[in-house]
Amino acid sequence: MAEDGQATGEAVGEAAGEAKELPLADRLRKIDREHEMLLSMQDQLLTALNQHFRQKTIEKMIHILKMYVRFHFELEEQTMALCQYDRLCEHKAEHGEFWVAMQAIETKFKGGRDVYEDIRKFFVRLAGHHISQSDEMFLQYARTLL
Ligand SMILES: [Fe+2]
Ligand SMILES: [Fe+2]
Repeated sequence: MAEDGQATGEAVGEAAGEAKELPLADRLRKIDREHEMLLSMQDQLLTALNQHFRQKTIEKMIHILKMYVRFHFELEEQTMALCQYDRLCEHKAEHGEFWVAMQAIETKFKGGRDVYEDIRKFFVRLAGHHISQSDEMFLQYARTLL
């Protein structure tokens, strides 16, 4: 893995790409791809922390992850609104909790503290609960609209 965060930087560019014009099927595929990318970013970040990469490098990786998470949540929420998904409000609230946790991790790391366990737990909740349950529930509903 490159120690400059370049790969994940490109990932944010992709996530931030214009999605407004995308048809629903493409949006759903993009959401799936972004879930895979999030898991890959988790692996990269945990490896970087484990191998004690430079502080500035890890800071950049955490920031890129934070921005990727933000764009991903926006894409999901816009797509849910488009589909008139009736669980949008509670889904947004879950995203809000992850956003607060992500900001807390960034602040903690900038303060010179170890965030390995925080990152690990963040992804246990995100991948183990949110993506596999809340996101999956929406994706199944949205696929009925195709
Ligand atoms: Fe998601
Ligand atoms: Fe979500």
